[in-house]
Amino acid sequence: MYIKPNVIVSRVDRFWENAAQSPLQIVQLPLFTEHGVRVYMKRDDLLHPFVSGNKWRKLKYNLREAERLGFKRLVTFGGAYSNHIAAVAAAGQAMGFETLGIIRGDELHADSNQTLQFASHCGMHLQFVSRTAYRDKELLISQFGDNSYLLPEGGSNQLAIKGVGEAVEEIQSQLAAPVDYFCTAFGTGGTSAGLLSAAVSAKVLVFSSLNIKKREVEAHLAAFVPLHDKTWDIFTDYHFGGYGKETEELNQFIDDFEQKTTIPLEQVYTGKMMFGVVDLVRKGFFNQGDVVVVLHSGGLQGKRK
Ligand SMILES: Cc1ncc(COP(=O)(O)O)c(C=O)c1O
Repeated sequence: MYIKPNVIVSRVDRFWENAAQSPLQIVQLPLFTEHGVRVYMKRDDLLHPFVSGNKWRKLKYNLREAERLGFKRLVTFGGAYSNHIAAVAAAGQAMGFETLGIIRGDELHADSNQTLQFASHCGMHLQFVSRTAYRDKELLISQFGDNSYLLPEGGSNQLAIKGVGEAVEEIQSQLAAPVDYFCTAFGTGGTSAGLLSAAVSAKVLVFSSLNIKKREVEAHLAAFVPLHDKTWDIFTDYHFGGYGKETEELNQFIDDFEQKTTIPLEQVYTGKMMFGVVDLVRKGFFNQGDVVVVLHSGGLQGKRK
């Protein structure tokens, strides 16, 4: 008689193991055809309704590690509109972790905006701290991080990089042709570092959402991944005034792009990156026949209508 083995699959494993691959979608714009450049979008925004984009990939190995080490509670940090806070709250709820979000700004409360409301409805406890207090992460950890698995701001650490790196192999398996360029938005650097860690021959194009210098972006990347055998380019001209800032031109671009392609973008990360990609195509940065893969890193929960 065959006895079925009694394998207990944890909620954490089940969450990731039941997931389908995100689609790789061709982006059809007349400009791309004119220049003979093939642009694809890796639709990680479709991975999960709430734990989407780079958050899905960044949390995968972190939450497995939290479970392996026996932690019941996740503690993390973020600003008022943080996609990371929303994702950790939703992931915690789905996988049975308690969650605490330490939020920058003691003038805020759980009803201040949609992101905080969402996190709070997922059961995340929100601790609002002043901007000065927020800078001292060590002190905050000693005050609030007891017996908890700590996730850094933006979720970027080595396990996050491992998770993001998996996107590269997945993309190569979905495409018949080798990739010439991967493109990603930059905030804390974990997503770019993840692509860099796994991309063997392709060049990684990093589009900063922050108004910072190239060498600062590079320093963030170098903190996560050795760069000596990698090829990359950093673009710092597409921040539209800095982190979280937007302009009429950017909003117009996003509306137009969405109408033509049906792919949604948001103002903080993916809209700025895609504006940059289109601008580079227009300026002849790419060669005829190049295959460009743009990572849709999600963030649509924070989209301002
Ligand atoms: C939607 C979205 N895209 C891109 C990024 C940038 O990723 P990273 O912080 O890993 O550079 C973030 C921030 O984490 C984000 O929320």
